[in-house]
Formats: sequence, C-alpha cells, structure tokens
Amino acid sequence: GTTRHYHFDIKYENVTRLCHTKSMVTVNGQFPGPRIVAREGDRLLIKVVNHVQNNITIHWHGIRQLRSGWADGPAYVTQCPIQTGQSYVYNFTIVGQRGTLFWHAHISWLRSTVYGPLIILPKHGVPYPFTKPNKEVPIIFGEWFNADPEVVIAQALQTGGGPNVSDAYTINGLPGPLYNCSAKDTFKLRVKTGKTYLLRLINAALNDELFFSIADHTLTVVDVDAIYVKPFETNTVLIAPGQTTNLLLKTKPHYPNATFFMSARPYATGQGTFDNSTVSGILEYQVPPNILLHSTKIPLIKPTLPALNDTSFATKFTNKLRSLASPQFPANVPQNVDRHFFFTVGLGTSPCDHNQTCQGPNGTKFAASVNNVSFTLPVTTSLLQAHHSGLSIGVYSSNFPVSPLIPFNYTGTPPNNTMVNNGTKLAVLPFNTSVELVLQDTSILGAESHPLHLHGFNFFVVGQGFGNFDPNKDPSKFNLVDPVERNTVGVPSGGWVAIRFLADNPGVWFMHCHLEVHTSWGLKMAWVVLDGELAQQKLLPPPADLPKC
Ligand code: C2O
Repeated sequence: GTTRHYHFDIKYENVTRLCHTKSMVTVNGQFPGPRIVAREGDRLLIKVVNHVQNNITIHWHGIRQLRSGWADGPAYVTQCPIQTGQSYVYNFTIVGQRGTLFWHAHISWLRSTVYGPLIILPKHGVPYPFTKPNKEVPIIFGEWFNADPEVVIAQALQTGGGPNVSDAYTINGLPGPLYNCSAKDTFKLRVKTGKTYLLRLINAALNDELFFSIADHTLTVVDVDAIYVKPFETNTVLIAPGQTTNLLLKTKPHYPNATFFMSARPYATGQGTFDNSTVSGILEYQVPPNILLHSTKIPLIKPTLPALNDTSFATKFTNKLRSLASPQFPANVPQNVDRHFFFTVGLGTSPCDHNQTCQGPNGTKFAASVNNVSFTLPVTTSLLQAHHSGLSIGVYSSNFPVSPLIPFNYTGTPPNNTMVNNGTKLAVLPFNTSVELVLQDTSILGAESHPLHLHGFNFFVVGQGFGNFDPNKDPSKFNLVDPVERNTVGVPSGGWVAIRFLADNPGVWFMHCHLEVHTSWGLKMAWVVLDGELAQQKLLPPPADLPKC
C-alpha cells in the first residue's frame, strides 16, 4: 500500500444555510469536510491541528484499527482530546476493508459540523463484484442547526429534557428546495442516459434514521458499512446514523424529459420530538444533443417515501441484507460462541439536581443506559491509556453487568423503576473470544430504535425479532451462513438483535447508540480486549504525540 498524508486544520468558518449565518467548527473551512480517498492496504497519516476553542478528536468510523486503537478517536475512550493550539497525527493502516465509511468529530456534539466521507477503493487491479460504475458520487446526510449544537446539547443536559430538533436535514451539506430560503442550496446530480452511477450513501445525521429514495428510479444495494452484500433492488433505502450504503443507480436509456427529486426523511418509531421534514436533491439528465426541447418547463417528479413509522418496511429492508458469502468474500461468521451477553438498551431517568428545572418524566431527567448502567467517561485520562498503563483503578471497573440490573418484560407491566445507575464499567474479553451479544430494546420511555455502533470490529447480525428475546427458541433461527456484516445495527423498537464477533483486536472499544442525544444521556459502554500471547496479537505502544488531558 501507499502512505497518504492529509492535513486537517480545525478552524471556524462562517456558513450560511436557511438564510442564517453562523460561525462554526470545520475542517479546513469546508462543510461538509474534505473527502478522504484511499485504497485497501494504504496507510493514512492525518495531522489534525486544533485552532478553535473547543477540544476536538476525530473518529474514523468503521475503520477496524487493528492494534492501532490510539488512532480510533473517541474522546476519553482511546485518547484525551486535542486541545486548542495542539495537534495529533492519526496513524493507521486500512486492512481488509473497502467501501464507504466516514470520519467525524467524536466529542460532545461537534460531529454535527465536523464530518466527511472516507472512501476506500479496492486494491489496484481488483474489480468490484458488480457492474463497474461510470461515476462514483458520495451522498452524505447531515443535520443543520441554526443554533450552536453545543448550546443545544448543553441545555438539554441541564434541563434533562429532549433537545431541540435540528432545523433541516442536508444532502452534502445542502437542505434543498423544500426548506425556506434554500433553493440555491440544493445538491444536484447531473447524469447521462444509459450509465451506471455508484452512490455512496453516508448517514452522518445526529439523531435520525432516514428513508432515501429517487423518484422513478430503482436502486441496487451492493454494499453496507464497507462490506459487499448480495445485490438486491429497491425503491427506498433505510439508513441509520453511523451506517453507509452503496447503491448502483442505472440511468434511463432515453432522455426522460423530466427531473427527479432524491429525498430523505426520518424513520421515527416514537412520538418524540423528531422532525418530519424532507431534504431533497435533484437528479438532472443532461439533454442529449439530438433532442430538441419544446419547452423549458421540465416536470419535476417526487418520490413517495414510507410513512414515518413504517416498521414493516424497515423490517423487510433489513431482512434483505445478506453477506455476499462468496469464495472471494467469505462470511467468517463465528460458529461457536465462547461468551454470551444479553444487554438491554434504552431510555431511563435520573434524579434532578436541586438547582435544576428538569423536564423529564415526573420531574426527573432523561437518561439512557445499557443494562441499566448509564456510562460516564473519565476526564483526566482515557480508558485506553488507563488499560495500557495498568493504572485503571479509580478510572474504571471491569464488572460490566452481564445481564440487566432491572429485569423487564414486554408481556408484563413495565418496571416502575426507570432510574439508571451511573458508572464507568467495562466488559473484559480475552484475546480471540468469540462473542454473541443480544441487544434488547426496552422501549420503557417512548418507542425508539437504537442504532448501536461498535468500534474496532465488524459484527454479523445473526438474528432479529420483536418482543422478548427467547434464549431457548430464537437461537435455532439464527443465520450463521450469510448474515450481514456491519459496524452499526438498528436495534428495533420493541425488539432485539443478536450479533456475533471475534474479539481479535486488542484495545478498548467503545459501543454506543449512534443517536447523539442517546449517547449524551449515557447509552454507551466499552469493551477491553486483552492482548494475545504472540507479538502480533498485542496493542502497539502509544504514539509520542498522543494528547494529554
Ligand atoms: Cu461514528 Cu463512536 O462513532
């Protein structure tokens, strides 16, 4: 592989959307941030220099970071943040991955403005296992807040209520013509007839799963989370925050005399404060030279997106996702399990401090937890530094509960105790442990699905269902042949998913809901994967420029 150098200057830039200008944190003054393009096997050296008042870290979402956890990026998990005036070089090699990923800030809510595509091409001379596209186009979804998102989340945490919803969804940073004042801020994809385009979809939105569709065009899903899947056709795609999806778009063979909206809007199972507005870009055909248009008024066709709460579509769509499981791209699903875990994920409450006015249920604050533990990050060191130096006492404990502290049951009455326990508890795995983890949504306060993201690994989604997971019945239905492999999975509202992974990457690995507000409320935990015996099974030593807290 090649070594590629990038320079990220974290700086303020004035950006205007919805007729509202604000100074915001960007990379190199760009919004969305710069595109990283590399090949499988390349090494990336990305120097991040912090010129703003906020502390910052950058996470390379979905990159496995084999033995290079120091470059993973979540603040206080694998590193202390890069402070004002400081810099850090993220140094990692892309091993065995190709497809679409993305990078984003991983501290507080800065990822609302600090994010960009990370595109990994196959090795030189290695073709895609599908039609070679004529062109590749990143399509990155985001959310625009007129207010400073740091202020939005600070207020939400202070009052314990839900945060304000964003003011717009965006495609490549642009809200599109259905929003006020945004016709000029519309993403346009100009295409030719009879060609194949590879659309690299990334959901970098903070708090919403999205449906996406292009009017009057069929899309072929070929890859999710930088793993090839068995291709299938669909009109609409569902993509959760933290997920990526590669689609083939075949353009019409003849000039259609129309332009087409490509639109996205939330899939929202709860009655929460979600925003049901729609972002649109435009698919525009180049007029072939032999065509004489009689009118300049070309009709604009809009897609029909599923209803906001269309869980049946969501379930059908996710069930279609299957690994390629071919000789060239095998699905190495762990067939035997060394350790079984059962985690409940969901919202809860925590007591209101006496000096606060709390907006959560019964005068409490909203909180969220995994097995009723609402995770607290350290502030004086990172979990990885504490683990690596052997000085973890007082930083974290290794007793993450193996089952929920408060039992619950969908068929009975919900527990009347929704209080979470705060803690910094980690789950420890010996090197090469084969793990099965069942994630059970509790839906105790409001129905919401949770896109759970695991750092440092891909996992196989071997099963999913609704209601209570049944350890005696459900495992017999698991797919151990061609389950989809990914890094972020939607735990369905009122249901469960089962995943399997091999703990072959030593380090400390964050796992959290990729809905940013749920992460802020504590829906997060971390795994410690111990070093193996052999030299090549050990975490590498920290780099000399690793930031200090
Ligand atoms: Cu994309 Cu821990 O995040």
